[in-house]
Amino acid sequence: MAILASGSGSNAANFMVYFRNHPRISVSLVVSNNASAYVLERACKEGIPTAVLPGPAWEEPRQVLSLFDRYGITAVVLAGYMRLLPPYFINKYPDRIFNIHPALLPGFGGKGMYGMHVHRTVIAAGEKQSGITIHLVNERYDQGPILFQATVEVEPGDTPETLAAKVQKLEHKHYPKTIETHLLNNPNHTPA
Ligand code: GRF
Repeated sequence: MAILASGSGSNAANFMVYFRNHPRISVSLVVSNNASAYVLERACKEGIPTAVLPGPAWEEPRQVLSLFDRYGITAVVLAGYMRLLPPYFINKYPDRIFNIHPALLPGFGGKGMYGMHVHRTVIAAGEKQSGITIHLVNERYDQGPILFQATVEVEPGDTPETLAAKVQKLEHKHYPKTIETHLLNNPNHTPA
């Protein structure tokens, strides 16, 4: 798989460790749109190849796809990736691109709903629960089929920061495992 991330990449790092000695699945490439993203350092330390593809680079489908082909990529995991993927890329990996959202979709998703904005909005709405949603990626924000959800309680006194910490724990616990199960149950994919 390839991991796409824009920032610190704690989920990406968690995948690198989880799949380090996996017999069937490996993290073979880490891509960021942002050359100074810390996730790139984390990948280098693990000995995983990296690439930086800023926005304009995605306008060259042949070059982008040949990069992913070079590393034998058949699945793509988004881990805090802040850009929409172009249709040619989504079409290349049907049902093989995954995202995690730090709330319970279909609520609290869509454009502008990322990072602390999500947790602030959940608390302001007086929600008793929040959680994580792992889903397939299509061309619309946060609207692909849901593969897995898990919940946390929003307790009185929770701040966006404390809620974010609880949600992140869930992300680390479930994201790699969910993708592993999905890939092992849906093998033999040859990219288009
Ligand atoms: C996570 O909260 C994830 O749900 C969202 O982006 C965040 C990435 O965090 N899609 P990190 O960079 O993996 O720490």
